[in-house]
Amino acid sequence: MSGSDVVIHKGLENIIITETTLSYIDGEKGILYYAGYPIEDLAKYSTFEEVCFLLWYNRLPKRKELDDLKKNLIENADIPWEIVDFMKKTPKNAHPMDIMKTAVSALGPYDPELEDNSKEANIRKAIRLQAKVGTITAYIYRIKEGLDIIPPSRRLGYAENFLYMMFGKEPDKLSSRIIDVALILHAEHELPASTTAALTTISTLSDIYSAIVSGIAALKGPLHGGANEKALEMLKEIKTPERAEEYIKKALAEKKRIMGFGHRVYKAYDPRARIFKEYFRKLCEQKNEWTMYQTAEKVEEVMINLLGKKGIFPNIDFYSGAVYDMLGIPSYLFTPMFAMARTSGWTAHVIEYLQDNRLIRPRAHYIGQLDLKYIPIEQRE
Ligand code: ACO
Repeated sequence: MSGSDVVIHKGLENIIITETTLSYIDGEKGILYYAGYPIEDLAKYSTFEEVCFLLWYNRLPKRKELDDLKKNLIENADIPWEIVDFMKKTPKNAHPMDIMKTAVSALGPYDPELEDNSKEANIRKAIRLQAKVGTITAYIYRIKEGLDIIPPSRRLGYAENFLYMMFGKEPDKLSSRIIDVALILHAEHELPASTTAALTTISTLSDIYSAIVSGIAALKGPLHGGANEKALEMLKEIKTPERAEEYIKKALAEKKRIMGFGHRVYKAYDPRARIFKEYFRKLCEQKNEWTMYQTAEKVEEVMINLLGKKGIFPNIDFYSGAVYDMLGIPSYLFTPMFAMARTSGWTAHVIEYLQDNRLIRPRAHYIGQLDLKYIPIEQRE
């Protein structure tokens, strides 16, 4: 495409490419809904399994439907030993997201319905995939730490099972509820880069596993997943609330970005950050450890005073890293955990998009030369 009146939408910013019933964000008001339900209510009353059902079927389940889904997730949590073997053999310094991406890719051919893109088959595959990404994430931790893997339990719910496969014992109620809520809060968020990548792949009528591999690949980048790791590093560097103001002012004077603040869509307080903060407080109360919480609160206060008028507030990543850290989860696992939760949203979007598929094929504005004369290689200077 060429011509001087071309309007370029760099980064597809504010371009609406599809309709959805999966999530609604009002960035000015700091509001998020999944399939019509406020995120606050889902975080308070629901479970990750129920949210998965909501995203895949666009309604809340009845008791029997939820029980069946839970059973299905448990029954499909194992991953083939060849894939576990491959995960164990990856180089010691392999990026966890590369291990996850390759493991999910390798799972595709094991699925008997891989090439069936009907809605029903894709929901069944989404369930199998969701069941397995939790196991893959926990196994990445066990392998990285040089520990034996712990196969999934046949009794526990998704969040509890994840912590069980990580640490080898049944978690306490607060820890498993926090992971459950973290999974709910990360499950869906309209069309960020990763979901757009997944849709681009499925729009060619590829398969759902390939689409999710695209999503994981896009999430790996530090502009998308990964800011919570940096926010945690910053809180550990600041150490105490007394040092927060000076640290932030110096960083801003040096034109540094404060990780865990600001968002392309939210220009108000990210509602997910508010919920994470509340669980952070509960965890500190349980452990009677307050320094990091007070430091984070002070950073938040200073940032809002300085940049709130520009629409910069805490995002989901500001408190999540600190919460995971208090649960004993190493920072290299934060982005795989994000992918584990978002698999539900990615698969739901893929299924929804296929109901009215249109090949995603944008254009680029050509600014190179035309009509150059081909010169044989021997005659080139
Ligand atoms: N710290 C300091 N200043 C900031 C921050 C921040 N975290 N975020 C934005 N700003 C400033 C920019 O410097 C810019 O200032 P200017 O107008 O004076 O030049 C202004 O706010 C607008 O910034 P943009 O980068 O244009 O805003 P955009 O909407 O593109 O950025 C982004 C969103 C990338 C998330 C940004 O806020 C950022 O880098 N935040 C830190 C990283 C982070 O926390 N990412 C996680 C996002 S949530 C998620 O992906 C799950």
